[in-house]
Amino acid sequence: MKVDGRHFRSIWLDDDGWTVGAIDQRRLPHEFVVARITSAADATEAIRSMLVRGAPLIGATAAYGMALAMRSDASDTSLDRAYAMLLAARPTAINLKWALDEMARSLRPLPASERVAAAYRHAGEIAEEDVAINQGIGRHGLALIEQIAATKQPGEPINILTHCNAGWLATVDWGTATAPIYLAHDGGLKVHVWVDETRPRNQGASLTAWELGHHGVPHTVIPDNTGGHLMQHHMVDLAIVGTDRVTANGDVCNKIGTYLKALAAHDNGVPFYVALPSPTIDFSIDDGIRQIPIEQRGADEVASMTGRTADGRVETVRVVPDGSPVANYAFDVTPARLVTGLITERGLLRPERAALASAFPERSAGH
Ligand code: MRU
Repeated sequence: MKVDGRHFRSIWLDDDGWTVGAIDQRRLPHEFVVARITSAADATEAIRSMLVRGAPLIGATAAYGMALAMRSDASDTSLDRAYAMLLAARPTAINLKWALDEMARSLRPLPASERVAAAYRHAGEIAEEDVAINQGIGRHGLALIEQIAATKQPGEPINILTHCNAGWLATVDWGTATAPIYLAHDGGLKVHVWVDETRPRNQGASLTAWELGHHGVPHTVIPDNTGGHLMQHHMVDLAIVGTDRVTANGDVCNKIGTYLKALAAHDNGVPFYVALPSPTIDFSIDDGIRQIPIEQRGADEVASMTGRTADGRVETVRVVPDGSPVANYAFDVTPARLVTGLITERGLLRPERAALASAFPERSAGH
């Protein structure tokens, strides 16, 4: 997508053909900084520290991390070590394991002499596939927005609520939840997005609002607890969120707070959709609440906030009394029964095993 007139993806291969470039998302919205990733250890740290984040982007970064590992040592030992190191970077998004498995499956049969070129080629394919998938999600989600638009009075906006950042920054390009929104806006539909701030890291306020603003999409940032009130007052037509892992039967794991939005949507008859690329489906598990590992992150994310002062300095300040313990569960699980539908690259699906398996037979095979 465009940033100040220049086209950017969230991750790319530099002109030297081996260095990986990425937008440092820890610095947004205050500073636009490009980071260079030059080793598998760099890629691991980029994922762990959330320089890059969002399930599909984590997967693409891990794929490039494997390519960088092969560049420095293309042996089996190096492949196994890089796989284990990258896999341990974050636990919840299944796209990380999916991308690493894809890379390992294609590289392992090759002689070491062919692995570097193959690894870069395959990492590039994973990145391109993500872009194509998101465009597919965009088209199917657009049809949904168009249906709602048809029920509106002329000039009345379609109000869409989203949580966290499932935008182009969370993917390679386009985003999952945002792809339909960008297409609708670009096609002349009057959309307005309620952006949950998404404490503790504020991915909504810092990243989604930044993205939407740069694309000219009307939006309003709201404190996380506002969604229920808006829904009670008919101010939300549709909720679209992303996801880090969907179980075979349609349970959805996403950023902490998603579940509460789904409950409020259910209570108020607001359609609650989840946009997901097929690599986010984990066909090996059925019970999201019991089986998906929920990342717990550091206390500092909750105890402090970072912002820009009036004179332009970026500062972090503590907002919790010294000594008060905090808990930081990064994700929660929304049971399938609260999900109206899944927006995938192959169409809108019911959150059910049969629907997912018949839409993605190649991914569900063997489970
Ligand atoms: O902790 P994050 O910022 O990596 O969490 C991101 C999310 O929860 C997104 O909604 C999810 O990864 C889907 S991104 C298309």
